[in-house]
Amino acid sequence: MKKDRTVIVIFGVTGDLTARKLIPALYQNLREKRLPLPLSIIGFARRDWTDQILREKVKEVIIDKISIENIQNDVLNTLLEGCFYLQSDFSNPQGYRKLGEMLKKEDVRNVLYYFAAPPDDYTEILLGLLNTKLYEGFPGWVRVVIEKPYGSDLDSAMELNQKVHQVFNEKQIFRIDHYLGKETVQNILVFRFANGIFEPLWNRRYIDHVQILMAESGGVGSRAGYYEKAGVIRDIFQNHLLQLLTLTAMEAPVAFTADAVRDEKIKVLASLHPMKGEDVINNTFRGQYVSGLIEGTRVVGYKDEPGVSVQSITETFLAMRLFIDNWRWAGVPFYIRSGKRLPKTITEIAIQFKQVPLSLFGWKNMAGEAPNMLILGIQPDEGITLTFGAKVPGPINQISPVKMEFDYVSTFGGEPPEAYERLLADVINGDATLFTRTDEVEAAWRFTTEIIRAWENEKTSNIPVYEAGTWGPTGVDEFIRRDGRRWRVV
Ligand code: BG6
Repeated sequence: MKKDRTVIVIFGVTGDLTARKLIPALYQNLREKRLPLPLSIIGFARRDWTDQILREKVKEVIIDKISIENIQNDVLNTLLEGCFYLQSDFSNPQGYRKLGEMLKKEDVRNVLYYFAAPPDDYTEILLGLLNTKLYEGFPGWVRVVIEKPYGSDLDSAMELNQKVHQVFNEKQIFRIDHYLGKETVQNILVFRFANGIFEPLWNRRYIDHVQILMAESGGVGSRAGYYEKAGVIRDIFQNHLLQLLTLTAMEAPVAFTADAVRDEKIKVLASLHPMKGEDVINNTFRGQYVSGLIEGTRVVGYKDEPGVSVQSITETFLAMRLFIDNWRWAGVPFYIRSGKRLPKTITEIAIQFKQVPLSLFGWKNMAGEAPNMLILGIQPDEGITLTFGAKVPGPINQISPVKMEFDYVSTFGGEPPEAYERLLADVINGDATLFTRTDEVEAAWRFTTEIIRAWENEKTSNIPVYEAGTWGPTGVDEFIRRDGRRWRVV
């Protein structure tokens, strides 16, 4: 039998991530002929499912996400026929032996292990694969995709790295941060390095400050168990926000290759001005939502979400000021703002260029807005906007802020593809550029862990609260105003 089959083993196939992201991405990639055939999917999980149940679930998800009239039946059938279910506890050696038999029985060439199970199960899964040597013996490649959270601090991330490396080498490991799969996030690098116009200005001489915002109107939903231990700092800052920051701040890589890009990103992380103790307290501002209105509907406060402790001091909002101590950025503050239950869902990076001397116009007709801001819209309005002051027609020198805008959807037509589609296709192609390397994940944790430790040492029993549907606690405006700046109004 010709050994040409690729098998994707999804640990935790019954979970939410598989349904929301992986199955739709698999279908779309199959439709676009980005996946090798023949292809099988082995779902490995605890629940009492069968091949038939897995196939029904997969079908349901696709009908739900893609709408029945757009579904290509031949693609759907290829996907469904390739689905198999293996019921086992992650700690049961028998499960891995069975998996081995399934993989050996098949005409298998390549194997992709996808860790979509809860992170607490990663160690067991790695041990299972290690003991049964399921990482070798295939004629093609063996790769592993690991979902976040990747550890919960520097020590645990290093420990996990060490365990993963017992089974896989770095070239086989694909640590996902789905923000890197977003078209608009990748466009940060293209915009910066394919255009000569802004690059000469992209430094401390011309940039006053940078604001990175990732706001969500949603709450913690059914994930309180995880979120209680994570908060914004682990859930968003250590990964998505630091990725946005590194892409905005990094130097041009020598090539668009995985290692060249990641080498430059790590330099940014290594240059972050280290914060400890009192410094952390002065440069961070936390908050937690209480009940309030989101789009006119009353929502419960964080402490009333199912699974949240009444004593919880987990932050659902975080503002931070940080600096990058290198030649390009020294002295330029980066302001970060992120939270749940904020008035809208939006992610953007705003680069505020320095002002000209104010004496000529007084800028009094600028409606309070600083001109010369470049906004990289990540979502939901994907695009790039440049604001500047223009003369209002008329006899007197009145100035008004105006915009030049590029909008992704109207320029290229249609929404950009889902992040997981791109990332899954990259794993299959062995391209790790958009995945986090061992030293990168550790550098991100090194900085983040100091913040977590300083908060822990503060031993506070409460943090400021904000009403759901507002932009954070009272005091967050003052946090930036003390530097003579203000949060961008979105
Ligand atoms: C996840 C976080 O990584 O990203 C969630 O765990 C968050 O809390 C989500 O809601 C946001 O992703 P996106 O793509 O919807 O902006």
